[in-house]
Amino acid sequence: MTQLPLVIAIDGPAAAGKGTLAARLAAHFQLPYLDTGLLYRAIGKLMADRGHDLDNAELATEFARHLDPEDLKRGDLRGREAGELASRVAVHPGVRAALVDFQRSVAGRPEGAVLDGRDIGTVICPDARVKLFVTASAEVRARRRTDELVAKGRTVDYDTILAEVRERDARDSGRKEAPLKPADDAVVLDTSDLDPDQVMARAIAIVAARTAA
Ligand code: CDP
Repeated sequence: MTQLPLVIAIDGPAAAGKGTLAARLAAHFQLPYLDTGLLYRAIGKLMADRGHDLDNAELATEFARHLDPEDLKRGDLRGREAGELASRVAVHPGVRAALVDFQRSVAGRPEGAVLDGRDIGTVICPDARVKLFVTASAEVRARRRTDELVAKGRTVDYDTILAEVRERDARDSGRKEAPLKPADDAVVLDTSDLDPDQVMARAIAIVAARTAA
């Protein structure tokens, strides 16, 4: 019997726990993992470094077309600033279009892959065998992000982080191109009252149910 590739598409808003879950699922099922947010983060950072206007759709598209996978290894992509820059360049349709092939090349590996982002189940991998929409209330997500940053020694204020989370949600959900929303066939996983182990256990059960058929 040939084993079908296992593509797991994970979407959801900022700080919902997608990245943690995606990395754990990839390790569990021994699949490659692509954090697609890094693509948008790298473009935002490269443009900002050179003092370019992030609202310039044509220029942002050029940066997306010439993005080098080596740029994803930069050490400064995970922070809050890069997240904001990412969501600004991510509104441009040309940027999104330029990144499709790279994302699909990872999803097309013979064994499958885990990808996380905002439009994986809706646009990038509409045929993924498993689609998860990982979410949590804005308050819970802001609390998690605040705690994460405090643990790293940063001085941050919960209300500021909550405002940032809400602003990013509004931008990601409100944009015309590939807005953040669950695919029709996605399973919504609300992590507000779950710890990472519980989220992982639910996700494994969902994968088992989806792949049993
Ligand atoms: O980790 P977090 O959820 O904060 O951010 P991320 O997944 O790295 O994404 C950063 C930003 O990139 C998001 O707010 C989106 O605007 C954009 N993004 C996107 O539009 N599509 C994706 N597939 C991934 C990220």
